[in-house]
Amino acid sequence: MSAAYAKRILPLVIIAAVIAALIALFLYAAGFFGRSHVTAQQFVDFQEGGSPHAGFRRAHAKGVCVEGDFVASGALSEYTRSAIFAEGSTPFIGRFSIGTGNPSAPDLSSGVRSLALTFDAGANEQWRTAMNTPPVMAVATPDAFFAQLNALMPDPETGERDPQRIAEFFAAHPETQTFREWSAGYTPTGSYASEQYNSINAFYLINRNGDRQAVRWAAVPRVQIDENPYADTDQADNALGLDIAERIEEGPVVYDLVFTLATDEDDPNNPTVAWPDSREQVTAGQIVIQRLASDDAQCNSLNFDPLVLPRGMQASEDPILRARSAAYAESYRRRARETWLGGE
Ligand code: HEM
Repeated sequence: MSAAYAKRILPLVIIAAVIAALIALFLYAAGFFGRSHVTAQQFVDFQEGGSPHAGFRRAHAKGVCVEGDFVASGALSEYTRSAIFAEGSTPFIGRFSIGTGNPSAPDLSSGVRSLALTFDAGANEQWRTAMNTPPVMAVATPDAFFAQLNALMPDPETGERDPQRIAEFFAAHPETQTFREWSAGYTPTGSYASEQYNSINAFYLINRNGDRQAVRWAAVPRVQIDENPYADTDQADNALGLDIAERIEEGPVVYDLVFTLATDEDDPNNPTVAWPDSREQVTAGQIVIQRLASDDAQCNSLNFDPLVLPRGMQASEDPILRARSAAYAESYRRRARETWLGGE
């Protein structure tokens, strides 16, 4: 190539490079890179399997609806301007559940137990959170989570999981290690009242000055209950539900709501990594479960979408949160149509 020719095409090369960079920037801004390919419909199709349980949640189908108050200490106020965390009390509707999509699954068979809460802080403010017993997720993206669900799915003929497929999945996903270690060391307690429920995904608190602090939170129990009174009876299938109903009738069931503050070393967008125990923690107040909900429709008509947040709280960029929000809406749409609109 002659020097004269190179000089002539140089401006064209620069223009082409600028256009390519602009296209890449546009695609990045549109979220194209790293975007999830699995849809909410695919998640919910998978979770409901071949025979959906009409009118029920497609995950966490079996649960107990409760009501109570969040009694805030005010200790979180310096981090968030949400009225929910100012000293005082906010009513909530809550739901204990087990992870399965089968509404008649035996309570003690489920590997995941959950507590979901909707705080009602007046006409313009609500906070919804759905928490699980594991402190981390096994994987960090919706696509990988979908692959995990597929790897763990039992064979429809035998009802058994395929150990080789599971081993291959874990080998291909080393980020599952923290979850697997937790899972190997976890012993389910005897009651919903004695489990710790974790937000797993991270969020930001925003205070009056606009300062942002990344956090995770957990509902931390105040009692240790090893044995479930129904475990060895003919009512074992509903052991957790019966136990918690009795405890609530006897008096309030209480948890501390504890926030863990991230430092710059923690990635708020990766739910597979546990933050070190040395991170500062703030007890925002107590979750006081006062009574069983008078009408289960109170919970059935609720979708504990983790992106419904009060002012003073923001979602992190964690892609799992968007996938959750979309899947919960899809599950809600299906069960609402079956329950209130008379089917298809
Ligand atoms: C991509 C990942 C996830 C998907 C696709 C997913 C999907 C779902 C779906 C479809 C429902 C039923 C929603 C409804 O009909 O109201 C549900 C409920 C629930 N999910 Fe998830 N989930 C995911 C991750 C998580 C995580 C990380 C947590 C815990 C931090 C969680 C906690 C819960 C709880 C507690 C409920 C039950 C809420 C209730 O009692 O109504 N999920 N999930």
